[in-house]
Amino acid sequence: MITVRAPATSANLGSGFDVFGVALDRPADLVSVERAAETTIEVTGMGAQYVPEDPAKNTAGVVADALDAPAHIRIDKGVRPSSGLGSSASSAAGAAVALDALYDRQHTPEELVRIAAEGEAAASGDAHADNVAPAILGGFTVVREDGIEQVDADVPLVVCLPEIVVSTRDARDVVPQSASIEDLVETVGAAATLTVGMCRDDPAQVGRGLEEHLVTPARAALVDGYDAACEAARNAGATGVTISGAGPAVLAVCRAGDRRRVASELVEGFESAGVDATSYPTAIGDGATIL
Ligand code: HSE
Repeated sequence: MITVRAPATSANLGSGFDVFGVALDRPADLVSVERAAETTIEVTGMGAQYVPEDPAKNTAGVVADALDAPAHIRIDKGVRPSSGLGSSASSAAGAAVALDALYDRQHTPEELVRIAAEGEAAASGDAHADNVAPAILGGFTVVREDGIEQVDADVPLVVCLPEIVVSTRDARDVVPQSASIEDLVETVGAAATLTVGMCRDDPAQVGRGLEEHLVTPARAALVDGYDAACEAARNAGATGVTISGAGPAVLAVCRAGDRRRVASELVEGFESAGVDATSYPTAIGDGATIL
């Protein structure tokens, strides 16, 4: 049997919609695989009741099919489904890495990203590799049609999860279909600043680089309490705040010494708007790892 720890991830980082992603050092899914004549799936842990065990509908099952690697797959969910923290990507990434090792297929990490993305696409209808790339490669990733860039960045982060539900479909429906040249110039500037900040491990630059005025404001309308939480986090020292993936989780960047205060102020901000939330300090972490 092989067990893989596959991390939660945060996609977009504001200015890198459908392009940027980071692996988080917590939480994570644990994916265990054993050879079997046909694929079966068992899901336990956080929000397990919302995850299909039918291999045709589960991202890990679709990955097993794509790799022609039938197995009994056990997924212990540490990443809550529909949180904006790449829950289905964690399971897909964990399954890709575990099954590749179980059947000694020796795919490159980039090939495993493409296979895990197929799993995501078939099971969730959306083929974005911006969560599976960091879930497999770790660090900060830039996904494009023609390749993936990866940097092992070290930047303090805080994740806050409000107790509201945002469907990914709704979150994609509100994304504007066009942009002005002014918005484009601003977004490119922010994305470049963020990338330089990741290469320098500089929380001030990364925080500034989260800023964008196209996708995040449209999605913020779906996350009750978002504006209050952002303001509270900035007052507590956050260098930048944005929506994690399609939401509702919120991601803040700050200096290491400010993490606890930013975490508690994010919760206070949501609570001031009548929304319960939990938060925790985290950091950019490793990709899927065989235990
Ligand atoms: N980039 C995607 C989005 C991530 O924000 O919709 C969630 O699949």
